[in-house]
Amino acid sequence: MCGIIGYCGHRPAVPLVVEGLRRLEYRGYDSAGVSFVQGGRLSVIRAEGKLSGLEKKLESQHVFSATSGMGHTRWATHGPPVEKNAHPHLDHSGRLAIIHNGIIENYQEIKTELAQKGVEFRSDTDSEVLVNLIAHCLKDTGGDVTRAISKALSRVEGAYAIVVMSVDHPGTLWATRVASPLVMGVGTGENFFGSDIPAFLPYTRDVVFLEDGELVRITASSWEVMETASLKPVEKKVNHINWDVQAAEKGGHKHFMLKEIFEQPKVIRDCLLGRISQQGGQVRLPELDELPVPERLHIVACGTSYHAGLWGMYLLEKYAGIPVQVEIASEFRYRDPILPKNGVVLAISQSGETMDTMAGIKLAKGRGLPVIGLCNVVGSSISREADYVVYSQAGPEISVASTKAMCSQLAALLLLTLYWGRRSGRMAEDDCARMLRELQAMPQMLEEALPGLRAKAQRLARHYAEATSFLYLGRGPSYPLALEGALKLKEISYIHAEGYAAGEMKHGPIALIDPHFPTFAIALDDEFFPKVKSNLVEVQARAGEILALTNEGLDLAVEQPWTLPRASGPLAAFVILPAVQLFAYEMADYLGKDVDQPRNLAKSVTVE
Ligand code: AGP
Repeated sequence: MCGIIGYCGHRPAVPLVVEGLRRLEYRGYDSAGVSFVQGGRLSVIRAEGKLSGLEKKLESQHVFSATSGMGHTRWATHGPPVEKNAHPHLDHSGRLAIIHNGIIENYQEIKTELAQKGVEFRSDTDSEVLVNLIAHCLKDTGGDVTRAISKALSRVEGAYAIVVMSVDHPGTLWATRVASPLVMGVGTGENFFGSDIPAFLPYTRDVVFLEDGELVRITASSWEVMETASLKPVEKKVNHINWDVQAAEKGGHKHFMLKEIFEQPKVIRDCLLGRISQQGGQVRLPELDELPVPERLHIVACGTSYHAGLWGMYLLEKYAGIPVQVEIASEFRYRDPILPKNGVVLAISQSGETMDTMAGIKLAKGRGLPVIGLCNVVGSSISREADYVVYSQAGPEISVASTKAMCSQLAALLLLTLYWGRRSGRMAEDDCARMLRELQAMPQMLEEALPGLRAKAQRLARHYAEATSFLYLGRGPSYPLALEGALKLKEISYIHAEGYAAGEMKHGPIALIDPHFPTFAIALDDEFFPKVKSNLVEVQARAGEILALTNEGLDLAVEQPWTLPRASGPLAAFVILPAVQLFAYEMADYLGKDVDQPRNLAKSVTVE
C-alpha cells in the first residue's frame, strides 16, 4: 500500500508533491522519493525512513522551478527498505522515471531478458524492471511513451498502479493501474494522480476513478483516458467529492478498522499474488525452498496472531501431516520448553516488533532451531531476526485492533499448508488445486457478502448493546475464531467476553449461563455441527440466549441466527472472521467507543 502522487500544473511541483505524500502517510512507508524535470535533466531524490528524511535532503537542494513532478512513499514488498530500493526508479539511460504500487509477478524473467540485453540494475525491485521494460519498448515505438507503456504492460503479470515521467516530455505524466488503487484529480490549469484522494484533496474535489486496464496521460491543461491495451479513448465521468481529508484517508469509512475489514478481499488477493503456479495447482514459496519440510512445528505468537497460529495448527496437521504446537510467546519464552532438534519455529507477527515473540525467536535460535517469520512489515525486527521470512502482504494496518492482518495470516498459513503438503507428498495435487481455486474465489464471495454482514452486525449490536459479558463458542478450526471474536469484542467495546472450546462448556462455564449472559456460537455446516448443536441445546436449557453463525438449511433453532455464505472446510474461516470483526465493530461504534485507538492498547507491544 504505497503512497503515490503525480502533478502537472502551474505550481512548484516538488513542495506540492511532498505535501501530498505527507497526507498519504497513513498508507505506511519505509522510504520516500520525488522526481521532476528541471534544466533539461530528470532528477530523482530519495531517502530511507520517514518522510522527514526526504524533506531534509530537499532542503539542502536548490530551489525547484519544475511545475510537474511525482512522489512515492514505499511500503516494501520486494527488496529491503533501503534508499536504492526507494521510488522513483530511473531506467538505465536515466530518461524515464517510474513510481509503482503493487507486485509484478513475472519480473524475474523480464529482468533476466533485459540484463541479457545489457541493462544494468541498481535495485532489488520489480519496479525498476518495469521502467526498463518501458524504456526498451520505446525503441520500437519511435519514442512514443504512451505506446511504449502499452506495449510493455502487455508483457506484465501482477498488480500495479504506476506513474511514468520522461525527460523528453517534462510537462506530461502517464499513469495506469491493474488491481492497485489510482485516482485522477482534475483541477483548473492543473491535474493530479494519487493512490488515494487525500493526496490532492486540498487542490480539487473533482475526481476521476480509474479502472483496471485504463491508461491516462495528463498535462497542466489536458487529460485523456484510453484503454491500455488498444489505446482506444475511454469516456470517463468526473465525480465531485464532498469528503473531508479525514474521511478520505478512510476511503469514506467512519474508522480505519471498518476500512480494513472491507479491505480483506484485496488482502487475500495480494497474499496470493505470485504464489500460485500458472497451472493453478501448485503453491510457490521460494523463500522456503531451501528449508526441508518441518518434521514438527512450534508456532509462537501473541494475541490475534496467536489465534491465527492456532487455526493454522488444524490445517497443518490435517492436510500437511506436520505435528504442531502453538505457544503464547510470553509463556513460551519463560517455560524452558523442550525443543527437539528436528523442530522448526514459525513466529507470527503483524508488526514484526512484538517483544515477547522476538524473545521466543531468540530462545529457539539459541537452541539451534531454524525460525520462519510470518510478518506483515518488511524489514521489521522479527523479519530480520528470523532465518526465513514469508510476508503476508496485508499492507499497513492502522487500526489498533488487528483485522485484515489476521485475514492475511490465515491465507498465508493455508498457502504454507498446501506448499508443505505437496512437498511432502501428503497432499494430492487435485486436493491442493481444489483448495487453491476455492481460496482464489474467496475475495469475490467476500466482496458480495460484506455489506450484508455489516448490516446484520449493526442490527445485532443494537439488540445486544446492554450485554455485559459474552461467551464465544467454537469447535475445531472455529475454536480459534471464537477466541478471536471474544478478543475483538473485549478490546474495542470493553465488554467482557470469553472464547471457549464448545466441548469444554460443560466443564465449568455452563454455570454462568443465564438470560443475561448471551452466547455467540459458531455452528456452521461442518463435521462438528452435531456436537456444537448439542452444546447449544444445553445453553438453551438454562435460558441462555444464543447468537449463532450458521449456514442456510441447517436444523438449528436459536434466538439470533446469523446465516453466512457457505465455504468448504477451512475456507469457512474467511467468512467467519469478518462476521466476528463486524459484530465487535458495530457494538463498539454503537456504544461510542474510540474504535481505532482503544484505551490502554498499542498497535505494537514492544515491551514485556
Ligand atoms: C489484536 O487485535 C491486538 N491488537 C493484539 O492482540 C495483537 O494481535 C498482538 O499484540 C500481536 O501483535 P503482532 O501480530 O504485531 O505481533
